[in-house]
Amino acid sequence: MAKLISYINFFKVCVILLLSTNSRCFGTPLEKGSALFIFGDSTVDPGNNNYINTIPENRACYKPYGQNGFFAEPTGRFSDGRVIVDYVAEYAKLPLIPPFLQPSADFTSGANFASGGGGVLPETNQGLVIDLPTQLKNFEEVQKSLVEKLGEAQTKELISEAVYFISIGSNDYMGGYLGNPKMQESYPPEAYVGMVIGNLTQTLQVLYEKGARKFGFLSLSPLGCLPALRALNFKDNEGKCLEAASALARAHNDALNAVLTNLEHILPGLKYCNSNFYEWLDDRIINPSKYGFKDGVNACCGTGPYGGVFTCGGTKNVKDYQLCDNADDHVWWDSFHPTERIHEQFAKALWSGHPSSLGPYNLEDLFFDKEKLTIADIVDSPETDHF
Ligand SMILES: *[C@@H]1O[C@H](CO)[C@@H](O)[C@H](O)[C@H]1NC(C)=O
Repeated sequence: MAKLISYINFFKVCVILLLSTNSRCFGTPLEKGSALFIFGDSTVDPGNNNYINTIPENRACYKPYGQNGFFAEPTGRFSDGRVIVDYVAEYAKLPLIPPFLQPSADFTSGANFASGGGGVLPETNQGLVIDLPTQLKNFEEVQKSLVEKLGEAQTKELISEAVYFISIGSNDYMGGYLGNPKMQESYPPEAYVGMVIGNLTQTLQVLYEKGARKFGFLSLSPLGCLPALRALNFKDNEGKCLEAASALARAHNDALNAVLTNLEHILPGLKYCNSNFYEWLDDRIINPSKYGFKDGVNACCGTGPYGGVFTCGGTKNVKDYQLCDNADDHVWWDSFHPTERIHEQFAKALWSGHPSSLGPYNLEDLFFDKEKLTIADIVDSPETDHF
């Protein structure tokens, strides 16, 4: 019997060795997915803002943030628990991706550069956030440190196989434009959207030049339905969603779709997973009970109409705030940010969603490099040496 067991163990070791040395051959779901690099704002900030000089509005490292206990302490995530990229890392069989600013973090599975309040444009919340151009510089630093650690060749492979997840733009339209009369005087909405998209496109091209090939996007939500913006509409409009903000989000999403369709033709090997977060979230705001929520309008944590006054945590000017009994019943956690439950549901949708509703790849395809073969591919490139 003991002999049999040791024989079985020996066999297991062989299989594991085979899988790890020649894992692509097996395509087994046990293997770890590609690395994950994250750029963006508070939707995906894992705590970078804990390390910068900023205002309480751009921080979430205090209770009741993180109250659901997944993390022992508030981490700086703008959620009652995890955020979307934490789920994506889990599904990709990666460890949690550390904030870039976390001292002596290990970036061999990726790094998260996102910063609450951050925008595509350096003008957005200038001086209080890590803007996208700076996030890109920070990526270069990680790239250099990986070369030192892993060598040139292995880093090149890691960079080209990694997934680059980008969730940014909301702050450019909220604080950066609607909250900034000077910007509105200088640019009509279409021109402003063009500027944000122009700069975002440049960032994508720079990442591509550095070797990035696979991108995932969290598109913009119906911004006017955030409790904070609905509250602005409270007196004049009975708290309907603030259409000017939602219209900017739609224009941004449409423009990004168009850019990605073009880039796919211009940049060989580019693959992406884009989402329609706008409609997806709008559906949950309007029909919460269809998806297991009780409230699609009011923030769980905050004060004033719809919990739209951003006081969650009591660290800001207004110290009073209300907290709901069960955050899982809510679409909105605080005045600006969805609950962990929304993050999880959307992570699942992006991970395994049907590509036609996501276009052209889902995240699982990107992390585990499942090729979408067309008839032309099969006929034109019969070589299989890359397996
Ligand atoms: C990028 O943004 C700046 C403002 O920060 C603007 O002047 C410039 O035209 C934008 N670039 C593109 C390509 O749109």
